[in-house]
Amino acid sequence: MESNQRYTITSALPYTNGPLHIGHLAGAYIPADIFVRFKRLSGNDVAYICGSDEHGVAISIKAKSEGKTPNEIIDKYHNLIKDSFESFGISFDNYSRTSAKIHHKTASEFFIELEKKKIFEIKSSKQLYDPKENQFLADRFIEGTCPNCGYEHAYGDQCESCGSSLNPTDLINPKSKLSGEKPITKETTHWYLPLGNYEDFIKEWVINGKKDKWKPNVYGQVKSWIDLGLESRAITRDLDWGIPVPHENGEGKVLYVWFDAPIGYISSTKEWAEKNGKDWEPYWKDSKTKLIHFIGKDNIVFHSIIFPIILKAHGDYILPENVPANEFLNLEGDKISTSKNWAIWLHEYLIDFPGMQDSLRYTLTVNSPESKDNDFTWKDFQSRNNNELVAILGNFINRVLVLTHKYYDGVIPEKIDSECVDYEILKQVHEYPEIISKSLDKFKFRESVNSLIELSRLGNKYLAEKEPWKLIKEGENQRVNEIMYISLQTCAMIAILSEPFLPNASKKLHRILNLNKVKWNDIDKTDSLLVSNNKINKPELIFRKIEDEEIKNQLKKLKGN
Ligand code: 2FM
Ligand code: ZN
Repeated sequence: MESNQRYTITSALPYTNGPLHIGHLAGAYIPADIFVRFKRLSGNDVAYICGSDEHGVAISIKAKSEGKTPNEIIDKYHNLIKDSFESFGISFDNYSRTSAKIHHKTASEFFIELEKKKIFEIKSSKQLYDPKENQFLADRFIEGTCPNCGYEHAYGDQCESCGSSLNPTDLINPKSKLSGEKPITKETTHWYLPLGNYEDFIKEWVINGKKDKWKPNVYGQVKSWIDLGLESRAITRDLDWGIPVPHENGEGKVLYVWFDAPIGYISSTKEWAEKNGKDWEPYWKDSKTKLIHFIGKDNIVFHSIIFPIILKAHGDYILPENVPANEFLNLEGDKISTSKNWAIWLHEYLIDFPGMQDSLRYTLTVNSPESKDNDFTWKDFQSRNNNELVAILGNFINRVLVLTHKYYDGVIPEKIDSECVDYEILKQVHEYPEIISKSLDKFKFRESVNSLIELSRLGNKYLAEKEPWKLIKEGENQRVNEIMYISLQTCAMIAILSEPFLPNASKKLHRILNLNKVKWNDIDKTDSLLVSNNKINKPELIFRKIEDEEIKNQLKKLKGN
């Protein structure tokens, strides 16, 4: 198992234009958090970095619709989003925001450095303009039909349906989101990043370097964009919300949100380092560091082509080792939609299912849209919780805890040795850290969490077959001792290996079992996770059953929307 490796791990910076829903969690946060927790537990040096994405037209539109200023909007949602992440145990080392001074400074310095290196093209062209609102129509201020897939609500910079990156003038039947009018065109000057100049670099780096390392859904998307040819992209906008273009001719212009946002990973790392007396530079500049971006599929082009080109053009930075993007999560058969309120909002879930964060984390992992879009249904959530967490994992743990108290007053029985007829079972249990690590290193989160359940199933089956409750009546005390010893070690293994997936349950189990945190690399060196003669605490329920009524209410609430 890898240890002592430095990792910089990022999750996409969410826009502060609304609360978080389950699609966010499933896409870029739960997989990242599992991976980060796993890497920390294997003794690596991890900086897990995120923050709020507070610029861009998405924020201006929300401010207009709520009759508030952009600053009021970003404060409101930044705090709500940050709280939701904390409640779900997303264990960022730093959660910053792009309105922070340090970010404005870092992004401006990036622009100035690239400008100094004469990387940009400066071009005048006719851009879409809303004469009624006296406003250039960048990005989400304009909607139209995607020329690639025909989706009718593609934005001026991107189609969220097929993920392609667009220019406003590419849209078919463009319409202003401000006035609903057909736009006119007007001349304006912008700074462009000439992606075409970096085609050879990207080809060499991705096509030759990442084919077998990146997930097929990510590699495939990147390859098809490269095959289409890379065009220059404007990285400035005529808007009044964003980071002012740091140039004498930049009056009235701001940096494009997709130029500044990924640099937010760097500013957030700087903020973290400052707070903790660390040096941020090795996390971004040491070639031995592994940089990993967890994102949703609509962000692939920015993280695997545009941001790497920005980093490469700057020259001092490392490039991502991997970009394990997830596909989309649907809800009850339909696309999750904020505007149609077709979503499960995290802050509402926390009220309806208090203390049940692990159940949602589990369902979103076992059903993760890892290689294709997937569907979340309330029924499936209930059955995953009741039939897997409660009936398999929870039930096994509970039986072992109860029996240990009944037979031994909570004291761990005598250690077994390799002569024991069931020693094989104990050996099998000790293979799980390796099994789960292997899946996680391949970003196979579904497979890894299934292994955890499989381990609990193994424990359940063992108890059911050996029936210590019968043996004890027959006076087979030595056999009962062996069975209980093995079962308790299995519980401890579950407590340790569940930490990345079910952090609350894991914490509770550690407390009940009086178990110290163990590094995963140290596990297979010892067969005694729980030491004989130590005492465990009274059993507590780890998971609770979800009733039909609760599911009915959720469906009613969703469909009432
Ligand atoms: O798609 C989004 O929600 C963007 N706010 C993601 C930004 S990721 C990063 F590059 F900042
Ligand atoms: Zn499209």
